[in-house]
Parts: sequence; structure tokens; C-alpha cells
Amino acid sequence: MIDLGVSGKSVISIPENYLTRHGLIAGSTGSGKSRTMQVIAEQLADNGTNVFVSDVKGDASGFCIEGKDNKRNALAGYRPHGIETNYWSISDRFIQLRFSLQAAGSVLLSRMLSLNPTQESHLSLVFAYARKNGLPLDSLENLLDVLDEMLERKERGMSRSSVNVIERKILAMQESGIGSLFGKPGLQLNDFSGMNVLNLSDSRKNMLVSIAPAFLLQLLFEKLPEVGDVEKPKYAIFFDEAHYLFKDSNKSLRDLMVTILKQIRSKGVSVFFVTQDVTDLPDEILGQLSTKIIFSQKVFTQKGNKKLNALATSFPKSDIDVMERLKRLSPGVAIVSTLDGNGNQTEPGEVTMFAPATAMEVIDDPTLLEASDPKLIEKYSRKKPVKKPKSEKEIRTAIIREKPELKQSHETSKTTENKTNKPKKRGPAFYEGIFRFLLKLLDFMLKVIGKLFSAIILKPIKIFLKYLARKPVRIIYFILLLIVIYVIYLNWDLIGRFPDSLDFSQASHTVAYSTACIFLWCR
Ligand SMILES: Nc1ncnc2c1ncn2[C@@H]1O[C@H](COP(=O)(O)OP(=O)(O)OP(=O)(O)O)[C@@H](O)[C@H]1O
Ligand SMILES: [Mg+2]
Repeated sequence: MIDLGVSGKSVISIPENYLTRHGLIAGSTGSGKSRTMQVIAEQLADNGTNVFVSDVKGDASGFCIEGKDNKRNALAGYRPHGIETNYWSISDRFIQLRFSLQAAGSVLLSRMLSLNPTQESHLSLVFAYARKNGLPLDSLENLLDVLDEMLERKERGMSRSSVNVIERKILAMQESGIGSLFGKPGLQLNDFSGMNVLNLSDSRKNMLVSIAPAFLLQLLFEKLPEVGDVEKPKYAIFFDEAHYLFKDSNKSLRDLMVTILKQIRSKGVSVFFVTQDVTDLPDEILGQLSTKIIFSQKVFTQKGNKKLNALATSFPKSDIDVMERLKRLSPGVAIVSTLDGNGNQTEPGEVTMFAPATAMEVIDDPTLLEASDPKLIEKYSRKKPVKKPKSEKEIRTAIIREKPELKQSHETSKTTENKTNKPKKRGPAFYEGIFRFLLKLLDFMLKVIGKLFSAIILKPIKIFLKYLARKPVRIIYFILLLIVIYVIYLNWDLIGRFPDSLDFSQASHTVAYSTACIFLWCR
């Protein structure tokens, strides 16, 4: 059981086996969401579940430090303690979280790049093309290469204008630093065990911060085997500020998330969405979340009011007026409805939440770094200097492709640039260029050889077989001809010394003589 808090004198808990039916923690700012996420996450980690908490503000960083004594917690025998925790970041602050693009999938990446449906379909073509041709698709650089190759080869369905927009958005993403979320080595699931916190406090607060846990969810969905019903979750993911992911999201993303949420429960994964704004969570997602922990809500819009009302009425009937109470709750007190031991939704009740057993304060970076596994820090750090995303010049070229009127000014600046530039040293890019050229040459030669082989050997054989197939009797003639050729071949020396060599008393000589005659006649 995961203890949440107290209602009157009884402790309110969630049966661990029902946590894979997912949950929602919602409330206005300062209402107690992060503390509740901490309370649930730390108990899960203590019980052996692998936990991943995305911490957007950096205020859920205290897992590795022992918390303070708390009377309410003592009720449930819940004592302060620290937990061994690995801290991850997208930048190089802690262990660098990174995913392989191919594993991340095109739908989430489209969302990340805010692509329209046409551009999204282009991106899915790129992923399919790379998979089919065995091209690496780990980083954004790989993605740009595949896009270029597809354009060069004039692959069907690729429009230059859409590709230009996609490339421009990728370049902008690289510039923003978020591109480092993709590359090698991508996260391996066995490195994601125990308690893990993704600290996003140095990232810009927008949709990009909520997409990282979505990639993890997709990875778990792809990699984990079906295990059916579990006694306790194998993995638990806490999505902080989840509303960013869904705000203005398109149908394909919502469909993907619903599919993942529905199917991932049989893989032993529990997902908790944590949000200030339930208005932005789509109904189909809310419908997948069984445990609901709702703190005080400040609703300012009619849409928000409507959504909150729908949420309140989605609880089973009870004596309390949920809608009214939600507006008056004090911090740390929530309306909770979860599943009972039989899997039925419990009546909503007011619960005073337990305080975390770990620290509530924001912990400084050196402490978090020290707490993290040094082997993982080394494994996931970029030892080589990061390939500079793309130079300003390349970005400009990409934009110019879209706006030819800028070309002239670009050309002028290019000439002045060339005059002032000193000769450059041959760097790794030079050798990479030669290597790429050789690969292209090899590719070309193989193609030519393939075409010649097909034209000289395969095509005539095909024509001949078609010719035979048109009249079945031709097949018999052909087999007879083969037999004749074979017999002549066997008796070639006799035929050479004809007629002296013949001895008609021997049957084989008679056969050889007659076949030679047939052969000569045929000729
Ligand atoms: N369960 C709790 N036990 C003890 N204190 C709590 C609890 N819940 C909330 N508080 C108090 O309320 C403050 C705000 O809580 P918390 O940080 O969880 O809010 P939040 O909803 O995550 O806010 P934000 O949206 O700004 O991140 C805490 O710093 C703490 O002082
Ligand atoms: Mg918070």
C-alpha cells in the first residue's frame, strides 16, 4: 500500500497493484502537488519500483536527503530518510539524459517541432526511410542527413518546401540546446533503476520540458515485455507540468498517448500526470487516470470551470460537494478518489496529505551531483566536444532556400566572408567528407554493377522463361535439347574421330552417332 495521508483518523492509501491504472495530481501553484509526488515516489522507490520524476522547477530535488520529523507521518510509522537517487538533466549539469531519435519516434518529435499534419507526414516518411535503408537515426544531425538524402534522391512524397520548414525547426532546436536530448548513447533501461529525478530547472518552461518524460514513456512502451497484472509497478513515471505536453496538441499525439497509457499498464508501468491546469489535459487522457488527487483550484475561465465541473462529477457520488470544496482547500489538503482493494473507484474524500520523508528544500547542484552514480555521469557525458549544432551560415542557407529573395544579399555577404576568411585547417569534417564521398562512389559502383548484371543476365533469362511459359510444349522441347547437348558432351571425343571411332555393336555409340546427326541437322 502507498500511504497518501489521513482523513479523520484513518490513513488513506492506494493499493500498489492498482497504480498501473495511472493517476492525476492537480492543483494551483503552492497547493502541494510536488510534495505529494514526492510522498508517492519515495514510497514506490522504497518498495523496489524504478521511479522517474520529472522536476520542472527543481523543487522536488530533496530525495537524496533525509527530511524532518513530522507528527502526522508518525501516525503511519513513516520515518524521515534519504534515498539513493540519480539526478539527470538535459544539459551537462548531472547525468545527461539522451534518447535515440529512432526509439523516440516521429509523432513525439513532430510535437516537439510543432509540425503541421503535412510536415508530420514527411517526418514519418523519413523515419520509415531510415529504418528501411538501415541508416542511423540517433541524433538531429542524422535526421538532417536523411532528409537531405531523400531530397537528393527525389523520394516520393517529399516536398522541398515542407522539408525546408522541418530543417529550419530542427536547426532552431539545435541552437536552443534541446537537441542534446538526442544522440548516442541513448538511455538504456538497465541504467534507469531505483530513484531517478530529471531536473529541468535550467530549461525553458514550455512544452519541451514535458516531452522528455514522454520519450521515456515511449521507450518503456517499445522495450518492455507484457507482464499482465502486477503486485506493484515495475516502473513509475511522474510527469510534472504535464499540461505543456497537451496544450494545443494534435490528434495523433493524443491518440499515441492514449494507446501508450492503455497498453503500458500490462507492462507494469504506472504514470502520474502532475499539472496546475487540468483544462489543458484532454478528456481522453483524463479518462485513463484512475487515482485522482485534486488540490485547491483557482479557475478563472468559463472553460476551466466547465472542465473542473466535469472532473468533479466524474467522481462517484458522495455527500460532499466536490466542486465547492475544491475552491476552498488549504495547501497540503486534497480531494482524493482512488481504487479500493476490489478495483472500484472510492468515494471522494478530503485527505490531509503526509509530508515527504525526504527533504522538501531545494538542494544545491554539487550535492545532487555527488549523490548521482559517477559511472552513469561518465557513460552519458559527451566526451567528445559536441559537434557544433550548425553554423549561423548554414541556418541562413536553410532560410534562403525558402526565401529566394534573400539569396542576393546572402551571396554578397558570402563573398566578403570568403575574402576575410583565412585558409582553414583540415579538421575531422574534411576526412569525414572524403569518407562520405568514397561511400557514395561505392554505392554508385554497386548500383552500376547491379544494373549491368540485370541487363545482361537476368533480363534475357526472364524473357526466355516467359517465351517457354507461353506454350508448355516448348518446355518439353527445351528439356530434350538439354538431354541431347548433354549426350553430345559425354561422347565428344567419339564424334571428333568420326567415322573411324564408331563401333555400332556398342549401343552408346549408336546413340552418340544418332544424336550427332540430330545435332548437325538441327544446326
Ligand atoms: N504534504 C505536505 N506536507 C507538508 N507541507 C506541505 C505539503 N503540501 C504542501 N506543503 C507546503 O506547501 C508548500 C507548497 O507545496 P508544493 O511545493 O508541493 O506546491 P506545488 O503545488 O508543487 O506548487 P507549484 O505549482 O508552484 O510547484 C510546500 O513548500 C510546503 O511548505
Ligand atoms: Mg511544484
